[in-house]
Amino acid sequence: MDNTLGAILQRRAVKVFEPMEISQGLREQILNAARLAPSSFNSQPYRFYWVESAAKRATVAKLCLGQQPAKTASALVVAVADIGSMFATTQGQLVWMRASNFSEEKIHDYERAAKIGRILFMPGPFGIFAALKWVAFWLLNLWRTSAMPPLFHQDLLKWATKSTSLACQNLMIAAEALGVNTCPMEGFDGRRLSRYLGLSRRYHDIIMVIAVGKRSHAFVQPPQWRRPLQGTVTVL
Ligand SMILES: Cc1cc2nc3c(=O)[nH]c(=O)nc-3n(C[C@H](O)[C@H](O)[C@H](O)COP(=O)(O)O)c2cc1C
Repeated sequence: MDNTLGAILQRRAVKVFEPMEISQGLREQILNAARLAPSSFNSQPYRFYWVESAAKRATVAKLCLGQQPAKTASALVVAVADIGSMFATTQGQLVWMRASNFSEEKIHDYERAAKIGRILFMPGPFGIFAALKWVAFWLLNLWRTSAMPPLFHQDLLKWATKSTSLACQNLMIAAEALGVNTCPMEGFDGRRLSRYLGLSRRYHDIIMVIAVGKRSHAFVQPPQWRRPLQGTVTVL
C-alpha cells in the first residue's frame, strides 16, 4: 500500500526519456495492472496497442506531432476506447463462469443482463433506437429516480472513455511503482493514427497515447503545481 501511494506521489509527466530495455515480463506487469482497473459492468471497453519496435515507434511518434516524450520513449501505448468489444467480452465472461462452476442460476442471470445491456447499448441505424429509448427514459425520469444510460453513439464513446482512462491511470501508477516513467499525451493526429492502427471509426476512439521509458538525467522536471484542496473539493 505504501508503494501505491508512493507511486502516486512520485509520478510525473516525463518529457524526455533515455533508452531503456523493457523486458516482456515488465511489459506484462504494466499491462496487467491496466486491465485490473474497474470498468463499467466489468465490460473492459478498451484495447491497448503497445508499440515497441523502433520503426513503428518512430511512425507513431511522428503522429504524436513529433512531441519529445513520444520521440524518446522506449514504448508508446495507444489506449483505445472500444465499444465494439462488448459481445466478445460477455461471451468470454460466460465461458469463464462455466469453467469456474458458477451455478446455472448465476450464469442465467448474467446471460439475461448481458442481453439487456446489448439491447440498451444499441443505437440502431441513424440513432433511431437511441432516440426512442431516450424518450422512454426521459418520461420514466419524470416520475421516478432513474439514470440515463449511454444511448447515442457519442454517449457510448464517452462511456467507454471513462473506463479506458481509469485503465490508463492504473498503467501509469503501476509503471511508476515498477521504476518506469510515463507521459500521457492527447496531442496526436487521431485520424492518421487510427488509420495506421487499422481502427474502425464506428467502434474505436483513441483516448491517449502514453509514452513509457526511463526519465532522462538531462530532463529537469518543473515543480508540480495543483490547486489547493479547497479549490478542488466540496465537502457536504
Ligand atoms: C489527458 C492528458 C493529456 C495530456 N497530453 C499531453 C501532451 O500531449 N503532451 C505532453 O507533453 N503532456 C501531456 N499531458 C501531461 C500534462 O501536461 C501533465 O500531466 C500536467 O502538466 C501535470 O504534470 P504532472 O503530471 O507532472 O503532475 C497530458 C496529460 C493528460 C492527463
